[in-house]
This record gives sequence, C-alpha cells and structure tokens, in this order.
Amino acid sequence: MQRIHTVKELRSSLKAQKNIAFVPTMGNLHDGHIALISLAKQHGDCVVASIFVNPLQFGPNEDLANYPRTLEADCKKLTDAGADIVFIPNVQEMYPDFDGEHLNQTMTITPPPIAAELCGASRPGHFSGVATVVMKLFNLVMPQIAIFGKKDFQQVYVIKELVRQFNLPIRIIAGDTVRETSGLAMSSRNGYLTPAQKAEATQLYQCLVNIVHAVKQGNTRFTDLEQAASQTLSQQGWLVDYISVRAASTLKPATNQDNELIVLAAAKLGSTRLIDNIDFCAK
Ligand code: PAJ
Repeated sequence: MQRIHTVKELRSSLKAQKNIAFVPTMGNLHDGHIALISLAKQHGDCVVASIFVNPLQFGPNEDLANYPRTLEADCKKLTDAGADIVFIPNVQEMYPDFDGEHLNQTMTITPPPIAAELCGASRPGHFSGVATVVMKLFNLVMPQIAIFGKKDFQQVYVIKELVRQFNLPIRIIAGDTVRETSGLAMSSRNGYLTPAQKAEATQLYQCLVNIVHAVKQGNTRFTDLEQAASQTLSQQGWLVDYISVRAASTLKPATNQDNELIVLAAAKLGSTRLIDNIDFCAK
C-alpha cells in the first residue's frame, strides 16, 4: 500500500485510475472501518482510504487534541484489508488558509437545515466541517464510488445531499454498522470508556432495539417511546442528548404513514458521547 501525504503526489498517483472506491476516515481504525474497505474492494479497482482528523468538524470543547492517532497500526490494518493507497495529509495541506483556530479565508459548505437537528443541535458547525472536508477529499481523489458507515446515519444523509445538490458524479454506498458481540457499535470513542463503562455502553443499543420492537408491534406513539427510552437511560446514569424516531429517507420526524424508519440516539456516558441508530421497517 502506498502512503501519500501531499495533494500533488495524490493527483499524480491517481491520474490513470478509472474505478476508484474511496473510504474517508479519521484513523484509529477498527473493524467497522475495515468492513468499509472490504466493501470498497467489492466495488472498485483501486481502493483509496484517507486518514485526516478534520479540525473543522470539532467544536471548541470537543476531543480534537485528544482524538486517538494510531497511524502505524492503521496502515497495517489497511494493508491487510487490501487498500491500495492511503492519503494522510496534514492540516496545512488540506486547509492552507486555516491557522488552526480561525477559518480566515477558508471557504466552507453550509449543509441543509436538517444538519442543525439531531447531532447538529449539540454540535453546531459539525456537519459544515464534515461536508467541507468530504467535498475537498472528493475533489482530490475524484472517486467513482465513496463508502460511508450507517453508524453515522445523519452524516450519510448530509453527504448524499452534498452529492445530489452539487451534482457530483459519485455513487455513495452506505455500509452496515459493525458491532461488538455485546451490541455496542464500534467507535474510536469507545477507547475513552473504562471497562465498566464499556459493559454499560450496550444499554444505548438495547434501548434502540426496544423501540424497534415496540414499533414493529404496532406502537406508533413515537414521542412516548422516545421519552420512555430517554428516562430509562437517564436512570442508568446517561446524559441523553436525543432519542428520535425519524423517516429514514428524509430524517424528518416519523409519522404513522412512514414505513422505512430509523431510530437514532446520542448520549453521554461519563464524558464520552456515543451515538447509535437502527434503520428498520415498521411493517
Ligand atoms: P470516522 O469516525 O473515522 O469514520 C470513518 C467512516 O467509518 C465513516 O463513514 C463512519 O460512519 C464509519 N464507521 C465508524 N464506525 C463504524 C461502525 N461501527 N460500523 C461501520 N462503519 C463505521 O466519520 C468520519 O470519520 C469523518 O466524519 C469523515 C467522514 C472521515 C470526515 O472527516
């Protein structure tokens, strides 16, 4: 696998490629990321991954400085999974006009209003940062296919809108969420949990499973289900950000006319913010 650090080198390495499948990441790779690489291998002839901890998508009080950086282990996993190229730019390479604190002349993308709901409500600017970096990475890699994980369902939604509204000739594929045997969705942020918290963390997934079961049994009082789940998690010591049942295709609040649904949640266990979701059919 080739490691590339600069835009110039990336462009010259990819010039002759015709069927690129791209998997953007922030590193600290786990089996969830690697499943996306496998999916990329099924769909493309040249698999490109990127590792870039994007400062634009972190809020001022978030974990940018502490975000786990494990480059050597990541490269080994990518090589084993069969990636052809990993692009590892630094902040200067990606944002020459960004001084690390102020955007200055850096141009950014404003995502649609849905990006201000759910995770966007407690992370203002997050999806603008994601859309901006993904747009830049798309312009650099120029993939035919790009793969994202359903674990970050709202992110997939924003990226699909980016592609649709800016007419990008890229097919977006969403990979299923890879979980621990306990049900806990794999995440780089799970590394912040103590062993005891890691055992408790499965409660988040469990409360989503309970909502899915209730809806499938015909209970469409979504607000009641959300409130009950939120109360259960609070009693278990979580600080709940949101639990919400939405229409999967629009992310608008679910109505009982909708069949394809998604239940999404974000909550803090100690100081670690975890997210999860399950997409399902009501009938
Ligand atoms: P990161 O959190 O590193 O995730 C990279 C990709 O892996 C994302 O598409 C994410 O949804 C997917 N992923 C994470 N955990 C997963 C799991 N358990 N199962 C399946 N897929 C999983 O998401 C980002 O980075 C960034 O926002 C990025 C898109 C790279 C832009 O900076």
